[in-house]
Amino acid sequence: MTMSATASIAPPAIGPYQLPNRVILAPMAGVTDRPFRQLCRRLGAGLVVGEMVTSDPSLWHTRKSRLRMDHSGEPGPRSVQIAGGDAEMLAEAARLNVERGAQIIDINMGCPAKKVCNKAAGSALLRDERLVAEILHAVVAAVDVPVTLKIRTGWCERSRNGVRVARLAEDAGIRALAVHGRTRDQRYSGQAEYDTIAAIKASVSLPVFANGDIDSPARAAEVLDYTGADAVMVGRGAQGNPWIFREIDHFLRTGETPSAPSRAEQHAVMHDHLEALHAFYGEVMGVRIARKHIGWYLSTRDDAPAQRKRFNALETPDAQQRFVDELFCRTGCPATDGISAA
Ligand SMILES: Cc1cc2nc3c(=O)[nH]c(=O)nc-3n(C[C@H](O)[C@H](O)[C@H](O)COP(=O)(O)O)c2cc1C
Repeated sequence: MTMSATASIAPPAIGPYQLPNRVILAPMAGVTDRPFRQLCRRLGAGLVVGEMVTSDPSLWHTRKSRLRMDHSGEPGPRSVQIAGGDAEMLAEAARLNVERGAQIIDINMGCPAKKVCNKAAGSALLRDERLVAEILHAVVAAVDVPVTLKIRTGWCERSRNGVRVARLAEDAGIRALAVHGRTRDQRYSGQAEYDTIAAIKASVSLPVFANGDIDSPARAAEVLDYTGADAVMVGRGAQGNPWIFREIDHFLRTGETPSAPSRAEQHAVMHDHLEALHAFYGEVMGVRIARKHIGWYLSTRDDAPAQRKRFNALETPDAQQRFVDELFCRTGCPATDGISAA
């Protein structure tokens, strides 16, 4: 494999924060909690973005919001994503999050989730460029940390206004822009397209992060070459595969195919991930949330459905850890052949 044409390009900076590489974990509600963010950082993500936090502080007392806003022990820069549809509320939410330790504020205009969009937030905002500008100016003026923005390529097939929104973002003082290569209407269907991302990169001078369907080092290099983007942002490709960050980074720097994590490392990572989930959420919720993550780790196995079923029936942290130990044969279980080495 030849060296990527982008190999020599320096990682971007977000305001005063120089990123160590060009691979970023995308914000995913219900996925990029503190345990997963810390794991991805340890395995090479140059930046991680938390789950979106509603801009309505009257909801912040809920356990869900409190856990989403918990960044204790995380290395900087800590990027907190806020979602909402009202400029003043978003500005106030940004201020309050900075008071609580956010070092970067990210504004969500990329998420099609109903409960955000019902309040005309997330990617629904892309339809109203005047409101987009109002929100961006209000949030940038409210805080003295860098503000970043995450968008889709536009509202629908006929209204790919990503380039115009990117220019509005640059004018407002946004310091980096992540673009998911789908319109709002597409939700997650079809394939991400990178032409609009390339057009956006060509029309603004702020750092642009390409996002959508990046699930391997080779794909990351192709997308960077094609779009000229400054970094890739990886979402679903990291689920059950947190090694993807160092693998992409290695490939971008050397052009060499990275070696897959050893079985011992896979075992250790799954063990540590489980332990962190149980500690962070407590036993009951931790056991439940672990089912989703371990299900993703198991998904490359031939016998994934049966193994998932077994795992989902387990009710305690100990039983979940024993399952993982057995999976990797430490306690003599033979059922390990299908585990992915890649
Ligand atoms: C489960 C899930 C939750 C998501 N939550 C958010 C979110 O809170 N904020 C946001 O801006 N995007 C969110 N997204 C969108 C992702 O950040 C990303 O743009 C999208 O998944 C495309 O990237 P991918 O193909 O690498 O997954 C979410 C995506 C998924 C799958």
